[in-house]
Amino acid sequence: MQQVNLGMIGGGTVGSGVFHALQLNGGLMASRIGVKVNVRKVVVKAFDEPRPYPIPKSAMTTDWQSVVNDPQVDVVAELAGGTTFARTMILAALKLGKPVVTANKALLSAHGEELFAAAQQYGTNLYYEASVCGGIPIIKALREGFVGNRITHLYGIVNGTCNYILTRMKLEGADFTAVLKDAQAQGYAEAEPSLDVDGYDAQHKIGILASLAHGFWVKPEDIYVEGIRGITRTDIQFANQLGYTIKLLGIIKRVEGRGAKGGGTGASKPSPHARVQVSVYPTLVPNTHVLASVNHVFNAVFVRGDVVGDTLFYGRGAGKDATASAVLSDLADAALDLKFGTKHRVPPFVPHERDGAVAPINEVISRYFVRLDVVDRPGVLAQIAAIFGQARIGISSVIQPEGHEGASVPLILMLHDAPNGAVSRALAKIGKLAAVKSAPVMIRVEDLC
Ligand code: HSE
Repeated sequence: MQQVNLGMIGGGTVGSGVFHALQLNGGLMASRIGVKVNVRKVVVKAFDEPRPYPIPKSAMTTDWQSVVNDPQVDVVAELAGGTTFARTMILAALKLGKPVVTANKALLSAHGEELFAAAQQYGTNLYYEASVCGGIPIIKALREGFVGNRITHLYGIVNGTCNYILTRMKLEGADFTAVLKDAQAQGYAEAEPSLDVDGYDAQHKIGILASLAHGFWVKPEDIYVEGIRGITRTDIQFANQLGYTIKLLGIIKRVEGRGAKGGGTGASKPSPHARVQVSVYPTLVPNTHVLASVNHVFNAVFVRGDVVGDTLFYGRGAGKDATASAVLSDLADAALDLKFGTKHRVPPFVPHERDGAVAPINEVISRYFVRLDVVDRPGVLAQIAAIFGQARIGISSVIQPEGHEGASVPLILMLHDAPNGAVSRALAKIGKLAAVKSAPVMIRVEDLC
């Protein structure tokens, strides 16, 4: 049987998970694809660093160059993380024409365009299934399964930490801070939680999916991001009363209407080019939609294609074993591409939408949940309604729950479809009214239909 030799960079959680999965199922994979993936060396930071699965000392080295440059190494897997060394190591391998497998979403978000171009330039391939949603084969689905579709909508719960926190806030009626603290104690959330709870991890993943789905490189700075720190149990409770669950949602949606470039407000002119909403923010999802039932650390991605219709992918988005499953899938593809000499059988990312552009958030249209903290006296609701009316923003329902008497009371409004910019401007005016006691809370609503 043919064999390909693998040089692994990284022997921590993901690296040792891949090592273990190859020990467990490497034989099965070889019998399926007719090529054996043989681990030649694992580059580690330190031989005795903590790892969930053991790696024999004889398989380890601390010298990455000796592995990447080893003529016997056919494929390199970068499982070290970070955006500096990882970039250097991947570029070094690609320059030698060696295919690279990576799980590194932060690196792809920051340098993906350069790395994919390098893979193409040096006639090889960069595989990245493990970079988005761990064990869910969403990259393969978009790249291969939906190659004959235009992706009109993609909604993703792509950060397990946020989903875990929001799930517990809803089920237990708990506060964000308390759940975060407990999640940190249990190892579900990092000691420095910002990457997850402020939405940046989701931003990396959604940028990769948007680029792949729409054929132009989506820069992270073009992605509108809000995290979940501002979500309170009060919002979750009122949303639930209205029939919704709050999820941190990555949204990639084709926007119809104006021309492709620039995001200007000029005359409407239908465009053949992709103009796409790419964003990450807490969103009210109808309780009746399947995404509302995706709980705890699970991830899910809902994809609508113009030919296939609606599809749903669900699974573990992180963890040593789920991530290893994705890395093995890429290793199998790399081994097959080497075996048959088909280096571009499935190109990693090919820009094909030259004039594609991300739509600025202010132009994105959605519905809204608004929570205000107001003085309970006659005329306050009329003042608020007047500001929305002047901005041509329709109110679809109003709730002032009883039993909240005091210096101020909550006022919940659901708004009809309106551009984000118009709603933000109206809320800024409302926030200045003397009767409004704290900054208005606005959470977007997606009906997913
Ligand atoms: N920290 C991420 C999450 C997993 O909570 O989903 C790695 O991207």
